[in-house]
Amino acid sequence: MYSRIAGTGKYLPERVLTNFDLEEMVDTTDEWIRTRTGIERRHLVADDEFTSDLAYRASLAAIEDAGIEPGEIDFILVGTTTPDLIFPNVGCLIQERLGIHGTPAFSLEAACSGFLYALGVANEFLRGGQAKRALVVGAECMSRIIDWTDRETCVLFGDGAGAVILEQSDDPGILYSSLGSDGRYRELLYASTGVSVTPRDGEGAALRMKGNEVFKVAVKTLGSMVDEVLQKNGLDKGEIDWLIPHQANIRIIQAMAKRLRMPMERVVLTIREHGNTSAASVPMALDTAIRDGRIKRGDLLLLEAFGGGFTWGASLVRY
Ligand code: UT7
Repeated sequence: MYSRIAGTGKYLPERVLTNFDLEEMVDTTDEWIRTRTGIERRHLVADDEFTSDLAYRASLAAIEDAGIEPGEIDFILVGTTTPDLIFPNVGCLIQERLGIHGTPAFSLEAACSGFLYALGVANEFLRGGQAKRALVVGAECMSRIIDWTDRETCVLFGDGAGAVILEQSDDPGILYSSLGSDGRYRELLYASTGVSVTPRDGEGAALRMKGNEVFKVAVKTLGSMVDEVLQKNGLDKGEIDWLIPHQANIRIIQAMAKRLRMPMERVVLTIREHGNTSAASVPMALDTAIRDGRIKRGDLLLLEAFGGGFTWGASLVRY
């Protein structure tokens, strides 16, 4: 028994913040942001819009794409580090809006690797026969944990959501899943407050990152992970049809493409449009390239991500 991707969807909030808008807010330039990161704009939620709203809309698109009814979903898992509330979790919030009752619904936090973690877990539930059809989402309101006075981080992130419907299948879809983490690096990338760590005077929740150091560990770790995926699956470097990477920095993505000996035409790049959307970035990129006709049924895909924790994950997928 395997699982396969039956449908995909995404949702970007309407409000757009360009690099030129950011020039008015902090000491930065469009040129610096574009050349160092590949980002030109990001989408931000409205004041009354929350992670579950984005997740819900992406889920509706994936459900429609799969040609199913919400009632046919029997497992819901959302990767997010920016949930609406402490509880109910985002999975429960979208379950209720979709009119589904009684199925397991939960969220997990693995920062930018959240979707890969969610996909890996859902795959195991389907393969083990505990569910037949899963809704797997990556959704974030990163704008709510950004310090908008910190030019080193505020230019990087955006909001969005992506979703897939994963269903049991006799033919292999998810071929291999690799997940990892290393808590030693917590000081390089973290959010300063949480639930049990309460804000100090005058300090709200804020993402803090030593970007340059994160960059180096990301390239090294992702490199080892993709090598492991190829080796464990007996694949040569040229055999992947599409790389669907986490959209954090175009230079990290280019380094991975080089390591995989893949031309950039075979890499799905969406970072220009929405920056780093954390757990939402991989499912949004996947949906983009499926809907515009680049990715076709039968293609071999490599999905990968790296983020706070540090956490990392990859999935080898026959679409
Ligand atoms: O998704 C989770 C994982 N996250 C990542 O993978 C992010 C990894 N890191 C990165 O993408 C990059 O390290 C950044 C885009 C964050 C930074 O790029 P960099 O090439 O590593 O730059 P840097 O941090 O070494 O900074 C270079 C210079 C510094 O100035 P000095 O010290 O050379 O005078 C920074 O102060 O650029 C300056 N700088 C800026 N200048 C204009 C930093 N941020 C900005 C800015 N605008 N927004």
